[in-house]
Amino acid sequence: MTVLVRNARQLLTLAGEHGPRRGSRLSELGLVENGAVLVREGRVVAAGPAAEVEALPDAGRAEGIDARGAVVMPGFVDSHTHLIHARPRLADYEMRLEGANYAEIARAGGGILSTVRMVRSATGEQLEQQGKAALRTMHRHGTTTVEAKSGYGLDLDTELRTLEIAGRLGAVPTYLGAHVTPPEFAGRAGEYIEWLCREVMPQVASRALARFADIYCDEGAFSLSDARDYLLRAKELGFGLKMHADQFSRLGGTKLAVELGAISVDHLEHAGAEEVQALASSTTVATLLPGAVFHLGLRCYPPARALIEAGAAVALATDFNPGSSPTCNMQMILSLACTEMRMSPAEAIAAATINGAHALGIGGRAGSLEPGKSADLLVLEVSDYREIPYHFGVNHVRLTMKQGAVIPWD
Ligand code: NIG
Ligand code: FE
Repeated sequence: MTVLVRNARQLLTLAGEHGPRRGSRLSELGLVENGAVLVREGRVVAAGPAAEVEALPDAGRAEGIDARGAVVMPGFVDSHTHLIHARPRLADYEMRLEGANYAEIARAGGGILSTVRMVRSATGEQLEQQGKAALRTMHRHGTTTVEAKSGYGLDLDTELRTLEIAGRLGAVPTYLGAHVTPPEFAGRAGEYIEWLCREVMPQVASRALARFADIYCDEGAFSLSDARDYLLRAKELGFGLKMHADQFSRLGGTKLAVELGAISVDHLEHAGAEEVQALASSTTVATLLPGAVFHLGLRCYPPARALIEAGAAVALATDFNPGSSPTCNMQMILSLACTEMRMSPAEAIAAATINGAHALGIGGRAGSLEPGKSADLLVLEVSDYREIPYHFGVNHVRLTMKQGAVIPWD
């Protein structure tokens, strides 16, 4: 099927670069005034000035979508989510608002381990329904590619089940066995990591259930030496590497991840000058998750400006999860990135599309509107892209297209 999206007052192609965008090029959106996009069999044939695209032979026969003077851009790539987590943690939220800290919430039966209990006792069907509902919300808010981590099962069966569901739902699955130490290994984090490396990771690899392996390296989670063992084993088994690093404390995780050639390091709230430099001189994408800082009521936003100015490749993602960032909305992440981290609207859009795609190793087929790439695009109810973060907390998406098909809202 051939589709022509026309009458875009602003078309953002994000075209023109092979790797992730860095430095001043992060704000180059490939903006075309009065643009059109021609799509055939789920892929972009052409994206550019209406006069050129509409003159192509196929354009006359195409089914038309009239953007009516709106902004058209690539769909968001949400490269860091904990999509499958059974249920929200509303009691934790209220306790935190009343001033309780992480340890108090955990003592009251909340925190990550309470989600682990919920996910272990849920049926596959329940988890799939929960994931599907969240994905629907993501699509409505303009996300067309979603990464989904395991890490709320921690035992073999529940981790495998979570990854299978993530794959079935069309997400990019990441194995996060090393999220926290489960109760059956309480006080024995090192032994847990050994067990993951010996028993679990090889099964995830042989069943091809995840493309990436991730570890939460922080106080209260895993140490730097645990992270080294885990990531080295993951690398040996062929996984791409990711790390949750520098969220609450600076343990040296970022430098380790860079040294091991990780595809991304995520969070970075407490990254300092050394981490910024390490990232700037590497191919590792710095994925920032301002939703987690906002929801936790903290002020320690990651150093986006320093990273961009040093030349690091910066991406933005939701970190959608029930504890620290219960949002499915990348537009809200853009607003936080601009207001709290001083990114420009253009930088935030590039970080949330093409750079997110590079953080998942799919920059060659998603994240921008270029010939041959997947036709994942949005029509937004605004006439200037800067309105997307500016009018915060509002859903601007009128239409989401994935692989050339308009996603129906039900
Ligand atoms: O990315 N940092 C670790 N994990 C999550 C929080 C998970 C939870 O609270 O359930 C995060 O912020
Ligand atoms: Fe996370």
